[in-house]
Amino acid sequence: MSSQSFHQEIDPSLLPKHIAVIMDGNGRWAKARGKARMFGHKAGVDAVRKTVSTANRLGVQVLTLFAFSSENWRRPEEEVSLLMELFVTVLGREVKRLHKNGVKLKVIGDTTRFSQSLQDKIAAAEALTANNTGLVLNVAANYGGQWDIMQAVKKLAAQVERGEIPAEQLTEGDLQVHLSCSGLPDVDLMIRTSGECRISNFMLWQAAYAELYFTEQFWPDFDETSLTEAIAWFINRERRFGCTGEQIKAMLQVEK
Ligand code: FPP
Repeated sequence: MSSQSFHQEIDPSLLPKHIAVIMDGNGRWAKARGKARMFGHKAGVDAVRKTVSTANRLGVQVLTLFAFSSENWRRPEEEVSLLMELFVTVLGREVKRLHKNGVKLKVIGDTTRFSQSLQDKIAAAEALTANNTGLVLNVAANYGGQWDIMQAVKKLAAQVERGEIPAEQLTEGDLQVHLSCSGLPDVDLMIRTSGECRISNFMLWQAAYAELYFTEQFWPDFDETSLTEAIAWFINRERRFGCTGEQIKAMLQVEK
């Protein structure tokens, strides 16, 4: 099948609108090469770049990446501080490219625990890309699904306390508007690398109906082929089409 005919047969609207990724296995990837864990995190940044670029070119609406969980503070102090430095460097280096490609960046999570310089970089990157209309890239940092629900509940409780909504009339929608991903489609496809089959407190509300895709690959090995295979798996599960990662790739050629 030519890429053109594939494009005609597979409607881009079948793509998952929102893909969430738990990027796991950087440490084991580095260990397998006899290197320090940070070497794996740095290689993970290249995988982030490939994933963002592929998702944007395909026309995926939202990509949410789990960069740092609330639980990650328990890691050795040195790794945490090196990871923070890496975030600052990556933000500074990549934001122009993201902006040029129409990506809208948002950092979700409790960022108040980060250094002032990191918080400033985040605010500047979000402001620069705020009006972009391409891929929405959510980077989850110091994020936890339970934290997300709790911070929304607190805002809702305050509304009830002020008498704005009677408690007995509350709906899911009233809570949803206060969640980190408010206004965005729910997660259709959640991907986790490195063979672990857990969702680890990620997008607990938003992934209520998500298809869960687990791959043995370590995160630094995740590339365009890996993402297109995951998407083909999603389309086949949803629509029983029998399409392949190669066909999704062909779609990329057409979309370019
Ligand atoms: C999980 O691997 C990875 C992390 C906790 C950090 C992820 C960070 C990046 C990929 C780099 C920066 C990303 C952005 C968006 C700027 P792990 O350390 O848990 O690996 P292991 O399970 O093998 O130990």
